[in-house]
This record gives sequence, C-alpha cells and structure tokens, in this order.
Amino acid sequence: VPAGPARGGPVLPEGEPLRPLPKLRNLSSRPGAFSGTLVAAPDQLQLAPGNATEILAYNGVSPGPSIEVTEGDQVTITFENKVPGQESTIHWHGLPVPADQDGNPMNSVASGSARTYSFTLPADSAGSFWYHPHPERYTPEQVFRGLAGAFIVKPKVDPLPSGLGDTALFISDLRLAADGKIPPNTDDDWANGREGEHVLVNGQKRPVMTLAPGSSRRFRLFNACNARYLKLAFEGHRMTLVATDGGLIPEPMAEIEEILLTPGERAEVVVDFKPATGRVSLNALPYDRGRMSGQSATVVIPVLTINLEGQHSAPIALPTRLRTISPLGAPIARKRIEFGERMTNGPSGMGFEGFINGKPFELGRIDLVSRLGEIELWEVANPTDMDHPFHLHGTQFQVVEREQGGRNTPAPGLAWKDTVNVVRGGTVRFLVRQDMPGLRVYHCHILEHEERGMMGTLNVR
Ligand code: C2O
Ligand code: CU
Ligand code: CU
Repeated sequence: VPAGPARGGPVLPEGEPLRPLPKLRNLSSRPGAFSGTLVAAPDQLQLAPGNATEILAYNGVSPGPSIEVTEGDQVTITFENKVPGQESTIHWHGLPVPADQDGNPMNSVASGSARTYSFTLPADSAGSFWYHPHPERYTPEQVFRGLAGAFIVKPKVDPLPSGLGDTALFISDLRLAADGKIPPNTDDDWANGREGEHVLVNGQKRPVMTLAPGSSRRFRLFNACNARYLKLAFEGHRMTLVATDGGLIPEPMAEIEEILLTPGERAEVVVDFKPATGRVSLNALPYDRGRMSGQSATVVIPVLTINLEGQHSAPIALPTRLRTISPLGAPIARKRIEFGERMTNGPSGMGFEGFINGKPFELGRIDLVSRLGEIELWEVANPTDMDHPFHLHGTQFQVVEREQGGRNTPAPGLAWKDTVNVVRGGTVRFLVRQDMPGLRVYHCHILEHEERGMMGTLNVR
C-alpha cells in the first residue's frame, strides 16, 4: 500500500495563509433572490512553482465558488457543462430541493450544454451544505479532479455570536503522479475508494490561520473527499459541536475531542483557544475503516495550523439553546437497506461490485417507494468488511440508534443528518419523512462505491 505522495511528484507549498473560499457573485438585485452561474471546465492549477496540473474547476477555481444565501431565498443557478466528452450535473447535497432540480444521475446535462436549477430554500433550512457533480459513470472522476464547492445557508437570525467569526474549512484530497498529473483510478481505488495523498483545506496544503490567543472561533467543517474518512481533532483543545449536516443542533455539545466526518458529512464546531501564544494543529487522526484502507489507518495528517499570536482575546460564551428540532415521531412504515460487495477477477485485474439489497444500481429502476409526508423508520445494515457512509437525497433524517455486536447505542441527541457512517458489521436506524415527490437516490458516499453499484432509487409519491 503506497504511503505519502508519489516519489518524485511535485512538492506542494505548505504554510501559506489560509484563503477564505471565493464567493459566487449574486447577479440578482432582488431582495430574497440569489442568481449565479457555474461553469464546469478544464483548467490549469499552479500547485507548485513551474508545475501546472490539469484539473476540472467551477468558474476557474477549485474548490468551486462558495454559494452563500439566506434561508427563504429563491435560488437560480445556471450550469454550463464544458467538461469535454462527459455528462455532468450539479447535485445540491443535503438541501431540500425538488427532485427534478437536484442534479440526479437521471437528469444529466450533456457536454457542451447548459441548464438552470431553481429552488426556494424553506424556513429553518440554514446549515452547511455542498454541491458536486452526480452523473452516471463520471461522478468519482469529476470530483477528484476538482469539482465541488460549499453551499452555505445562513439563518435569518443567527443564535451564535458574530464575534466567533465564521470560517469554512472545505477539506478535499488530491493525488498527483510523479509527472504532476492527476492519475486515473486504480483497481485498488475502485475497491477501497480513492484517497489522494495530499489533504487540502480550501484547496491549500496545511495552510496557516492566525488568531488571537484566548479567542473563540466557529468552524464549518466539510468532508469533500471521495473516500477519505477524516477524524478531526485540534491538538490540545476540545471542540463544542453546534451543528451537523442539516444545521444547528438544539444545544451545544461541549468537550468533544474528535469528530469523525465521513465523505459527504459536515459539522460546525466552536473552539476556545488557550490564552497562550503558540501553534495548534488541526489533524486528521488515524481511523481504520476496514479492508486495505492504506495510510489513513495509521498516519496522523496535519490539515491546518492555527497560529495563536498577538493581542489576547476573551473567550465567548455560547447560548444554551440554539434551535428547536421536533422529533419526527412514530413511524408508520419501515424500510431496510443492506450494503453488499463482491470482488471479481477479470482479464483486466481485480474488480469491485457494490450492491444495495443484492442489486447493483440501474438507472431508471425503482427500488423503493415512499409515501409523501409519511414518517418511516429506515434500517441500514452493513454486513461487509468495510465501513460505508450512507447518504439519502431529498431530506434530512434523525438517527435513532446504532447497533453493533448486538448492542444498541441511542443517538446522543436530536440532530438533522443526510449522511451517516455505517460501520462494518453494524446497523444504523433513522427516522425520515420526504416532503417532495419524485425520484431520489440513496448511496454509499465513497464515490467509487456509488459508481460501482452501491446506489438505489426511491420513488416518493
Ligand atoms: Cu453528495 Cu448523492 O450525493
Ligand atoms: Cu446528496
Ligand atoms: Cu462504500
């Protein structure tokens, strides 16, 4: 199993000041409306002096421009697909948007054409979301070549003090071959999910953020990696969890040492930095997700350096209540999902096939049907030998419990989620209600697995 960057490959500069994500410009002057354009096209990235790498970018940047809107806004995004020879879509991961506006694989945009996505974000939909391509065949490749961006929905009134700031840390990973190019997936990548050796935050390798000693800061954490699990921890500091995938949780959860974010997941945390000057690293700690998951199982990867320097600042207290989340209540229907996988041996080497409920994904086949507005209990079981992050489109769900080795652990509190890790040998149960009709997909968010069959289609009617 290869560890570290390819030998002789480009050395990425480290230690530059953290850049905020560039924002997508709002072309609408109407209050309550956001309109913008995203163009997906090949571009050159100057990663190291004298080394240009061909990537895919939205509007010439990777990560793509951050879309920042307010709950209640009417959003219109025109998408131009200039990816040569490949269909694409833009999927609004986690956002409650109508099925035909959600960039599903069944609504692909041909290379050289364009479409407009439009949706209105309902009240109480604030949170940290993201967008990425979701066509058949090309999703893993388009994402690892650079297509993904943050989508931040702000609340009308934010219960968190503005003195905490608001810093998005959009984490992705990148593999560069010795020639400086982004190589295609190997058989091992297709089986285990691709992990790029360079872990980037806002497109930079191990950048530095300078803060006042003693200050309290709010971070929005995104895992936009194809397959890398991120077990994040600030050296010597605990975190207070304030939001999950679907926005704020009812009350801050303090004293958290590490947060596991699987591909697709987000979290918001507040960190009270110590009053002393010095350096604090945000690290991705080892996490064993099963199989031959490579270096991620053993190596600590520094992601970001916080440089505590200058005038002292006083810590900021958080409100005790952040939001009301009503429990979904008693289910009137049940569904069961079971992950499956198989290795095949063909003329071109080892192959990986993924299944949900015994079948590989097939575009156009309806696998499950849900009734509009009905509360359901979903049970997602993973009898395979690798963890899989389960993601459902169209809505947010409430995890009820996790089961492993015959033991049930209730969820630590009410929270909205759209992606949840299902450990190998484990089961997760959640409550969910779909409020918009149409076709939705659900899948493993290790994008190679999604592409190799671990996806199904739900018809909501
Ligand atoms: Cu983030 Cu169906 O995907
Ligand atoms: Cu999604
Ligand atoms: Cu998987």
